[in-house]
Amino acid sequence: MIAARRISVLGATGSVGLATLDLIERAEPGRFEVVALTANRNAAALASLAIQHRARFVAIGDPAAAQDLREALSSHPEIEIGIGADAIVEAARRPADWTMAAIVGAAGLKPTLAALRQGRALAFANKECLVCAGALFMREAAACGTRLLPVDSEHNAVFQVFDFERPEAIRAITLTASGGPFRTWSLDRMRSARREDALAHPTWEMGAKITIDSATMMNKGLEIIEACWLFDLTPDRVEVVVHPQSIVHGMVEYEDGSVLAQLGSPDMRTPIASALAWPQRMRAPVERLRLSDIARLDFETPDDVRFPALRLARAVIAAGGPAPAVFNAANEIAVAGFLKGRIGFLDIAASVEEVLERSLVDAGMPKTVGSFDDVYAIDARSRELARDLIDTSATLRARTP
Ligand SMILES: NC(=O)c1ccc[n+]([C@@H]2O[C@H](COP(=O)([O-])OP(=O)(O)OC[C@H]3O[C@@H](n4cnc5c(N)ncnc54)[C@H](OP(=O)(O)O)[C@@H]3O)[C@@H](O)[C@H]2O)c1
Repeated sequence: MIAARRISVLGATGSVGLATLDLIERAEPGRFEVVALTANRNAAALASLAIQHRARFVAIGDPAAAQDLREALSSHPEIEIGIGADAIVEAARRPADWTMAAIVGAAGLKPTLAALRQGRALAFANKECLVCAGALFMREAAACGTRLLPVDSEHNAVFQVFDFERPEAIRAITLTASGGPFRTWSLDRMRSARREDALAHPTWEMGAKITIDSATMMNKGLEIIEACWLFDLTPDRVEVVVHPQSIVHGMVEYEDGSVLAQLGSPDMRTPIASALAWPQRMRAPVERLRLSDIARLDFETPDDVRFPALRLARAVIAAGGPAPAVFNAANEIAVAGFLKGRIGFLDIAASVEEVLERSLVDAGMPKTVGSFDDVYAIDARSRELARDLIDTSATLRARTP
C-alpha cells in the first residue's frame, strides 16, 4: 500500500486553502493525511476544518482569536493548538510531503520560507513572497532540493506546457488576464469606482485582496515578477494578454512557432489539483470545458493608461534591489486603504508609484537585498511610507490621473 501524502495548508481558511481542502476531502480515502492547518483570525472555520480533516496541529496568528479556537476544539484534545505568528511558522515546519503556501501577502514570508526549508514539495499560491524575495527564495529552494509547484492558474498553466529539458527552445511565455471588472470602464468612471464594484470579479471567486489586485491589474504585475523567478525568464519574455473569458490560462511560445497553451474552466481547483497530485493527475470536480458552448475567445492588449500596474511592475523588475518588495508592500497598504474607504480606486496605483519614488530617497530604506532580514526591513519601512502617504493624501490626489 502507498503511504498517504502528508499535507499542510498555510492559509487554510482562505479561498485557495478551502479549495485545497475540498479536493483532499473528495480524494480517495488514504491518499492524503492532513498535518497542519493555519489561519489568522477565523477560529471557527479553522477549528471545523481541523476536526473534519483530523489535522494534528492548528495555528492561529491573532492571539485575540486564541480563546475561541481553544473553546471550539475543547472536545478534541488530540489536535494540538499553537497561537501567534511563531506558531504559524511552527506549523510550516511540521514534517509534511507537500505544503500549500496560501497565506495572503508578505505575512506569508516567514511561514512559506519555513515550509520551503523542509526540502519537499511546496505549492506556491502566495505570489507576494516571490515578488518580495524572489532571488532568495529560488536560491533557498535549490539549496534545499525543494520542488516548487506554481498554483496561480497562469503559472500553473505555463508549468504544464513548459519544456524544462529545453528552455533554450522557448521564445516567450504569455500570462492571460481577465481584465477584471473595469476592463471596459472609462478612466473617468473608474475614478469613482466603489468597493463593491471592484470586488465584483467577472470570472474568478477569490479573496478580497487578490480581487482588488485583479481590478487594478496589480495582480498581473505581481505575476510578471513571479513568472520571471519561477521560469528563469527576463521580463521581456513574459507577455500579458487580456482574455475576458478566462479559459486560456497561460501559453508557451517555442522558437519553431508552436504555441502550447493550457485551457480549463475558471476554477482554482484545476491548478490546485494539478499541484496536489503532481507528477500524477487527480480528479477535480470542475465544470468540463465545452468550447462550443463558449463559442468565442477574445484577446486584447492591456491598456497601460487605465491600468498602470503592468508598467510599474516592469519598472520595478528593471530597478531590482528593494523595488519589488517596496512595490508589494505599498500595494498591500493601498488595497487595505481602498477597502476601508480611505482612498479612491485610482489612488491605489498612484500611491504605489509615489511610495516607489519616495523609497529611492528615503534614508531609512535598506538599499540592497542580501538576506531575508533585509526583505523584512524593506517591507516594514515601505508600509510606513505608504501609511504616511495615505494619512496625508493631498500628494496622492495631485498625482491621480
Ligand atoms: N483566491 C484565488 O483564487 C487565488 C488565485 C491565485 C493566487 N492566489 C494567491 O493565493 C494567496 C491567498 O489568496 P486567497 O484569495 O486564498 O486569500 P484569502 O481568501 O484572503 O485567504 C487568506 C488566508 O491567509 C490567512 N491570513 C491572512 N492574513 C494572515 C496573517 N497576517 N498571518 C497568517 N495568516 C494570514 C487568512 O486567515 P483568516 O481567514 O483567519 O483571515 C486566510 O486563511 C494570495 O497570495 C493570492 O494572491 C489566490
